[in-house]
Amino acid sequence: MKVLLIGSGGREDALAHALARSPRLTQLFAAPGNPGIAKVATCVALDVADHAAVVAFCRLMGVEFVVVGPEGPLVAGIVDDLAAAGIAAFGPSRLAARLEGSKGFTKDICAKYDIPTAAYGRFGDLASARAYLGRVGAPIVVKADGLAAGKGVTVAMTMEEAEAALADCFGGAFGTAGAEVVIEAFLDGEEASFFALCDGETALAFASAQDHKRVGDGDTGPNTGGMGAYSPAPVMTPEMSERVMAEIVRPTVKAMIAEGCPFTGVFFAGLMIGADGPQLIEYNTRFGDPETQVMLERLDGDLLDLLLATARGTLAEKTVTLSPDTALTVVMAANGYPGSVEKGSEIRGIEKAEALPGVTVFHAGTRADGGRILANGGRVLNVTARGASVTEAQARAYAGVAAIDWPQGFCRSDIGWRAVAREKDA
Ligand code: AMP
Ligand code: GLY
Repeated sequence: MKVLLIGSGGREDALAHALARSPRLTQLFAAPGNPGIAKVATCVALDVADHAAVVAFCRLMGVEFVVVGPEGPLVAGIVDDLAAAGIAAFGPSRLAARLEGSKGFTKDICAKYDIPTAAYGRFGDLASARAYLGRVGAPIVVKADGLAAGKGVTVAMTMEEAEAALADCFGGAFGTAGAEVVIEAFLDGEEASFFALCDGETALAFASAQDHKRVGDGDTGPNTGGMGAYSPAPVMTPEMSERVMAEIVRPTVKAMIAEGCPFTGVFFAGLMIGADGPQLIEYNTRFGDPETQVMLERLDGDLLDLLLATARGTLAEKTVTLSPDTALTVVMAANGYPGSVEKGSEIRGIEKAEALPGVTVFHAGTRADGGRILANGGRVLNVTARGASVTEAQARAYAGVAAIDWPQGFCRSDIGWRAVAREKDA
């Protein structure tokens, strides 16, 4: 089977390598891809915002299945347009992708179908948002309703921070994404990411992971797209995973059917595990980046087969088998990230890192220039390693980082710290 993968980040590099292991795959295309993906796929310069061009490419090349990595094309309805052309795709329809595209939509679904989440209000103007803020007080969380590349959320410990976040949203800092705002109660607990495939009716637990959203060591500094991750997340015991399936994921599957927009693709549930159990922070409707890089390192079995079953409605026949190993990834980013960065600096030593035991380096924001690899974005490389424990995976990943020669980049030095501390205590 010929497959087209849409995207160009570390997540897509990990997806490409996992898809390439499938005996069902005959040829993999990627649009636009990156130099890591190019090791296993033919990269094509397609404008993925032009759905007609994507359909025409699939017809021309005989592509039967499209795997969509990022949220943008999903929210723009690429899966609907492919379906209308008779081409199967992995990912939700435009209406089902509202679970990620509108935080207010998801909060309303939770309220209507009794899915545990923080108490909230939705506001379209500053005056009513400020009035609500005055009633509930800080700590409080202010969120731009729409897609804001992970930057539209402020966890405000004081009223001043909350007021400033509201002013940002309604002042246009996040464009139309901030025209509506969700204000929600601050949740206490430990965060985890939980992934489940869903074919419209059947949901199948996939894996858990823990991200590190803040840019600095010790979880300090501004939020980013994610500076590193490991899988599994120790808080997601088998019992907790089953609670999340029973209390959050399966009720959402039913809710989306009842709302007339059944969900197909992957639920990426951002969870807060507190004293009363799991609460939903948010849904994303695609694989996480960098969570995918670590989850797929642990997948034993055929990813293409699972994604096809998701699209075709046959997940009830499938199982997900994961290695008990831990996988951990360290994101190397260009100096300045998550602010503005300079592109074009040279990166050396990727092969040296990959020669180390258990280490894989995924490309997240690079471009090739002859034989050289140059930085081409904020998050640039994902140095990933497997180990029998988090401690071992962490040591291997940082050995990989040490082999890479890139003075214009940086990374956190403590990815996995919580789990490593737990292993020390055990
Ligand atoms: P989101 O983009 O909604 O996942 O939010 C980004 C980050 O903000 C989350 O990963 C949490 O660390 C934090 N956050 C979001 N909502 C809450 C909440 N209600 N209580 C505490 N922290 C939150
Ligand atoms: N790592 C968080 C995300 O993919 O949204």
